[in-house]
Amino acid sequence: MTRTPARPFRSRDWFADPARSDMTALYLERFMNYGLTPEELRSGRPIIGIAQTGNDLSPCNRIHVDLARRTREGIRDAGGIPMEFPTVPIFENCRRPTAALDRNLSYMALVETLYGYPIDAVVLTTGCDKTTPAGIMAASTVDIPAIVLSGGPMLDGWHEGELVGSGTVIWRSRRKLAAGEITEDEFLDRACDSAPSAGHCNTMGTASTMNAVAEALGLSLTGCAAIPAPYRERGQMAYETGRRIVEMAYEDLRPSKILTRESFLNAIRLISVVGGSSNAQPHLMAMAQHAGVALSPSDWTEHGYDLPLILNMQPAGKYLGERFHRAGGVPAVLWELAQGGKLDIDCMTVTGRTIGDNIAGRETKDREMIRPFADPMQEQAGFLALTGNLFDFAIMKTSVISAEFRQRYLSRPGEEGVFEARAVVFDGSGDYHHRINDPALNIDEDCILVMRGAGPIGWPGSAEVVNMQPPDALIRRGVQWLPTLGDGRQSGTSDSPSILNASPESAAGGGLSWIRDGDTVRIDLNAGTCNALVSDEEIARRKAEGPPPIIPSHTPWEELYREKVGQLAEGAVLEMAVKYRRVSEVTPRH
Ligand code: FES
Ligand code: MG
Repeated sequence: MTRTPARPFRSRDWFADPARSDMTALYLERFMNYGLTPEELRSGRPIIGIAQTGNDLSPCNRIHVDLARRTREGIRDAGGIPMEFPTVPIFENCRRPTAALDRNLSYMALVETLYGYPIDAVVLTTGCDKTTPAGIMAASTVDIPAIVLSGGPMLDGWHEGELVGSGTVIWRSRRKLAAGEITEDEFLDRACDSAPSAGHCNTMGTASTMNAVAEALGLSLTGCAAIPAPYRERGQMAYETGRRIVEMAYEDLRPSKILTRESFLNAIRLISVVGGSSNAQPHLMAMAQHAGVALSPSDWTEHGYDLPLILNMQPAGKYLGERFHRAGGVPAVLWELAQGGKLDIDCMTVTGRTIGDNIAGRETKDREMIRPFADPMQEQAGFLALTGNLFDFAIMKTSVISAEFRQRYLSRPGEEGVFEARAVVFDGSGDYHHRINDPALNIDEDCILVMRGAGPIGWPGSAEVVNMQPPDALIRRGVQWLPTLGDGRQSGTSDSPSILNASPESAAGGGLSWIRDGDTVRIDLNAGTCNALVSDEEIARRKAEGPPPIIPSHTPWEELYREKVGQLAEGAVLEMAVKYRRVSEVTPRH
């Protein structure tokens, strides 16, 4: 049976142009050495790209190198022609100066690939933190049918009978090391045990958060995000995803028909109730910008802050990815949101049905892992957007504020939720590591550690360095956390109560550029404000001195990135790129 696509396949323009048979011959010719036949390529079947993010430099996504075989089989069985191609490697932990530089680089490279080659629809393989937003941003700009296939998290990590989750184990063990409770060898053992298999981070860090977001946005098949990488369902999901993208190509079901303000608000609510990564803030904003959806930084407070924490997963809770999957994964969490009246159930998804249809009957049977919306682990556990004289916008993940921290800082009678602290300012993480244990700094419980020079322009790329731990001496006295504040980010696996992503950053002349050691910082979580108690005249005097210097660019991309990038509040996108939308509607010239 021949099917007629809802919109003519763009690959026809390459392979079946009746007016230019010489060009068609030229395009066809070299695909012959890949084993494809002219008949096949001219048959009118859709060409389905597989944007391959797995490679040896990207271990979190490496599973896709094998998984692509099942994806291809699905594509073939449904009548499509798969063509796999590489993307720019992104490995969160290893890329210096930060993988954040490469989200936009990978985005841009993928836009060019999808636009400039005869690709009718695409499978976006995702996993490690930024691979998900980079793929979705590019698919939005080009606007061809696209589906997200997560590689899935690693199996749960165990160390001496205790669950150890990726990333989180590092931050927790680092404190134990500083306190003299474990040796360096034990530190390494714990880290190794947290990574028992192929897959991305098994905590609700940025990777799990962003794959859950893709599913909540309607861009993955139902249940895709949480399946652990080595589980048999992962291969089956790859196959089904391959089959479904072919149908989507015929239906012309593009990102622009799925991504709406309502679907982005669903994503904010999901991130809030699972205790998701603070990095979701810039990534979600970036995806919204490229989708042309109006999302504002204050949407995090307005739509997410009042929501409860219902998922019991590290770093905000106890468990890891395997149990999350068995408890029902993202559909079970969305089901809870729907019961609480907090899910827009009419949003369209890649299944061709609404999100409400997809999650019907998906109630969890594991109430230790996914709590009822009405009986959560914690009330008011979402993200709080802050503003004041130090920045226009910064965000705080309240689900990881420990009882001990709340008690010490946020429970003063008559002043609940308000505290003042003395600033200790660091210019980059090198400066922090060099000086944090210097007794001359006189750091005590009443201090707030401030990190600057860590934003998109300053670092460059914006670094995960704001979750600074207290000096060793303080940790040995039992002080696990000090409040921190910075214009960089923190790891999504961190359990640190930090004020993050301050925008504008110090390097762009934001308030952190003039803060000084010893300034009093007043934080009022009820009012959503954070101010340095410094007079306007003094601020003006300090501003005249200009922001602290930043390191020079060392590569051409760093220079270009710094020139074009915006602030974290707005997603740190390449600002000139946002105006390009639905570019696949214009066929590129020969
Ligand atoms: Fe890649 Fe966590 S470092 S997923
Ligand atoms: Mg991370």
